[in-house]
Amino acid sequence: MPKIGDIQLPEFPLLLAPMEDVSDPPFRALCKEQGADVVYTEFISSEGLIRDAAKSVMKLDIYEKERPVGIQIFGANLDSMLRSVEIVEKSNPDIIDINFGCPVKKVVSKNAGAGILRDIPLMVKLTEAMVKHTNLPVTVKTRLGWDNDSIKIVEVAERLQDVGIKAIAIHGRTRVQMYKGNADWKPIAQVKNNPRMHIPVFGNGDVDSPEMAVKMRDEYGLDGAMIGRASIGNPWFFNQVKHYIKTGEHMALPTMTERVSAARRHLQMSIDWKGEKLGVFETRRHYTNYFKGIPNFKEYRMKMVTSDHAADVFAAFDEVEQKFGDHVFAR
Ligand SMILES: Cc1cc2nc3c(=O)[nH]c(=O)nc-3n(C[C@H](O)[C@H](O)[C@H](O)COP(=O)(O)O)c2cc1C
Repeated sequence: MPKIGDIQLPEFPLLLAPMEDVSDPPFRALCKEQGADVVYTEFISSEGLIRDAAKSVMKLDIYEKERPVGIQIFGANLDSMLRSVEIVEKSNPDIIDINFGCPVKKVVSKNAGAGILRDIPLMVKLTEAMVKHTNLPVTVKTRLGWDNDSIKIVEVAERLQDVGIKAIAIHGRTRVQMYKGNADWKPIAQVKNNPRMHIPVFGNGDVDSPEMAVKMRDEYGLDGAMIGRASIGNPWFFNQVKHYIKTGEHMALPTMTERVSAARRHLQMSIDWKGEKLGVFETRRHYTNYFKGIPNFKEYRMKMVTSDHAADVFAAFDEVEQKFGDHVFAR
């Protein structure tokens, strides 16, 4: 069974992917309750952290109940990354993850995120220095390569392993692809099949059904699946995959009562974490996802997203629960 450093994981673990504005502590806690084996924070800027930018620092908050949790940082400057490691350690995460996969322009233009895939020696050098600078296990999340002509992930993964990372998660797309096309898991399987690899190799990209997770395990032989979009507003996805792996059957979809309960708890945890104003505001973006697939839902959603008062949002939740109760809608 795979391990990240000393962290023992179950067979074929499911990891919640780092997602900006999505993987906040309340969402991570809900995913953990619903079967995620490891959760990651959204990416946090090393430059923001060392300047004590409030927004970056807040992203370091973690709950005990979500462990094991990895804090993900990005950057391309060695000194800033090392100083961030020290700052991140104070939050006491279980894992430090390096983001070498973010494709957005403002990140790659500074050689950070997937930008570093154009400079593998720098990628290896940064990683090695970070591994040496902490006792926590360091993991890497990356893409196949910069573009189709520069896919060197087998070599890259081996070099990162050799400088001490404890696991690698690979999104089966290149930087140039962004999110287009289908994720290609074949190069990830090649990483896994490299006889020199001994750390866990997690696959990422397009796991959107239990069947896809099983495919990743059985046809591609990967050590676990990292799941992003399929979990948004749908923390049950992890247990759905686990149930399918165990029984070969699909788990019942959540009822509306369960969906309302998740949204309610998400909002309450957000309020407890950052106060009513910010909690109400920042949880708004999750409702479309929690309530996906419900016909004529606009009227209720508007009530949830137009008031600044938690009481109004909770009242809208109650109304939805009373109206739809045990109904089950496909997403
Ligand atoms: C809204 C959103 C935000 C994301 N933010 C991050 C991030 O902060 N760090 C990161 O490594 N990847 C980020 N990603 C990429 C995901 O972690 C993942 O690699 C990608 O979505 C593919 O997996 P999926 O098909 O399961 O969603 C983000 C993706 C989405 C959709």
